[in-house]
Amino acid sequence: MAFVLTTSAALFCCLCIALTKWNEPSKHVTKGRSLLPPGTMGWPFFGETAEFLKLGPDFMKKQRSRYGSVFKSHILGCPTVVSMDPDLNRYILMNESKGFVPGYPQSMLDILGRRNIAAVHGEDHRKMRGTLLAVVGPAMIRDRLLPKIDEFMRLHLRDWDRCVIDIQEKTKEMALLSSLKQIAGIDSWPGVEAFEDEFFKLVIGTLSLPVVLPGTNYHRGFRARKNIVGMLTALLKERRASMDVHQDMLGRLMSGQSNYRLTDEEIIDQIITILYSGYETVSTTSMMAVKYLHDHPRVLEELRDEHFAIRHRKNPEDPITWEDLKSMRFTRAVILETSRLATVVNGVLRKTIDDTKVNGYFVPKGWRIYVYTREMNYDADIYPDPLLFDPWRWLSRSRESQSQFFLFGGGTRHCPGMELGIAEISTFLHYFVTRYRWEEVGGNKLMKFPRVEAPNGYRIRVDVL
Ligand code: HEM
Repeated sequence: MAFVLTTSAALFCCLCIALTKWNEPSKHVTKGRSLLPPGTMGWPFFGETAEFLKLGPDFMKKQRSRYGSVFKSHILGCPTVVSMDPDLNRYILMNESKGFVPGYPQSMLDILGRRNIAAVHGEDHRKMRGTLLAVVGPAMIRDRLLPKIDEFMRLHLRDWDRCVIDIQEKTKEMALLSSLKQIAGIDSWPGVEAFEDEFFKLVIGTLSLPVVLPGTNYHRGFRARKNIVGMLTALLKERRASMDVHQDMLGRLMSGQSNYRLTDEEIIDQIITILYSGYETVSTTSMMAVKYLHDHPRVLEELRDEHFAIRHRKNPEDPITWEDLKSMRFTRAVILETSRLATVVNGVLRKTIDDTKVNGYFVPKGWRIYVYTREMNYDADIYPDPLLFDPWRWLSRSRESQSQFFLFGGGTRHCPGMELGIAEISTFLHYFVTRYRWEEVGGNKLMKFPRVEAPNGYRIRVDVL
């Protein structure tokens, strides 16, 4: 019996070792004299995904302590090199032309479209980015978008007095509807609710496994994309038929005022990109700002002072202007500190288009590189007392131009919507803190990994000031 057990145990061990070795890419272990980065690849098919999702940031820290700040793994379906090295992260982000192209999951690329900005590289990317910057850049914010954002926020934050609201739900709705208003002036469009439903399915679809079976999130997301494309195509047709001039993002994209004239497919993919990229980022940053302001009365007081000073210069119905926005220095600091401490973005994904050398290591063609920037947010050398919510640390603008500033990515794909996102959140905070005070209702749980979210909602009781 003991023999059977020992033999079985030995066989089991061999099987485990064989399985954990399954995806050790032996043929790639050396190329010339370069080695793959150190690390483990985990179980067949699943790699180390379960451990990564269960332990989250602790998994990354554990691997770093064993293997250093550049290590290999197999997570989320792909052999991956994780880089937690700030210099290497910067190098990868600055050097797309050396073969480090976006490495987002297939489901995301399928659902966001062939001409989505993350799906194009090189010259195509340059053109698409140029047309995008023309519709979300500072001149457009100042002249066209800010008045729309202001009008939207006033209405969206109306009637919250003496209500218990789920601020997670409200900020999600805000991010989507505010974008729709800026894109096409849509606020009373009859199809807006149907659009909202389809958009939520699309978002979930991008985060799912690409299984084309009815009932899967991927299948639903893909169908949602088709429906959204249908609605946007009808809108384009309507606009062309009416010949009216529209001063919104869509009007600008259709007018071909930049060097490159977009096809209809490209216009639609650009709109889906704008909606998608600003959705979770803006909504979670806004929700977490409400959380941190609730927990830090001194910060809230200083923020209110800044916003009341602006209000006192105006009549009650006057909108926020570009100059007001530029004067919101402390608000900007609150937003950046929120983004840092909550780590709204853990990192970005790239993949190699050829066999490549990275920090002296060999990285095979098609491997993912996880430019993992999260730990930099908690690095005491960069941010003294890193776990403290301290917006004042951002008051020197030079912090934003430091080489370790990756909250909005870096290099050729640095977030083109950064200023727009900050303008939206600032306007939201302006009306929120000058109109209301609030208390948490209780029972709210906030998760920060793999995404920032309140799984059961984040409920607050709101009263007028
Ligand atoms: C607080 C808000 C935001 C945060 C934290 C954020 C963060 C980021 C980050 C980290 C990247 C780099 C992705 C990569 O390198 O793969 C990025 C790219 C991008 N963001 Fe944002 N973003 C925000 C708001 C917005 C908004 C409002 C828009 C709407 C226009 C937007 C549009 C984009 C686009 C289109 C890209 C891809 C750029 C390219 O590939 O060239 N973002 N963002």
